[in-house]
Amino acid sequence: MKLAIAEEIEDGDVQRCEAGATCVAIFNVGGRFYATSDICTHAYAHLSDGYIDGETVECPLHQGLFHIPTGRAMSPPVTENLRTYATRVEGGAVYVEIDEEETDKPG
Ligand code: FES
Repeated sequence: MKLAIAEEIEDGDVQRCEAGATCVAIFNVGGRFYATSDICTHAYAHLSDGYIDGETVECPLHQGLFHIPTGRAMSPPVTENLRTYATRVEGGAVYVEIDEEETDKPG
């Protein structure tokens, strides 16, 4: 589904998007767009409020680190990987592949 306008997310930036009840973070890393769950797997914090450094995002609450392209948990206290979603840019919009039924569930 279409979730963002590509030119509104600058390189090194992130935008929080709501897809039904699912909160998604769309990152621009060097001109490539990646989508992950916006909610940290450790406790409740929005990664779109975190600190982006290259391909990593640092959780604003306890500074756990995730690899944006793969969602891999990289440093304590996070141990569980982030959910990631495939993206594509078409007509200046960022589309994220997210199941319709998934948008009914929080996360
Ligand atoms: S909530 Fe993200 S590291 Fe604790």
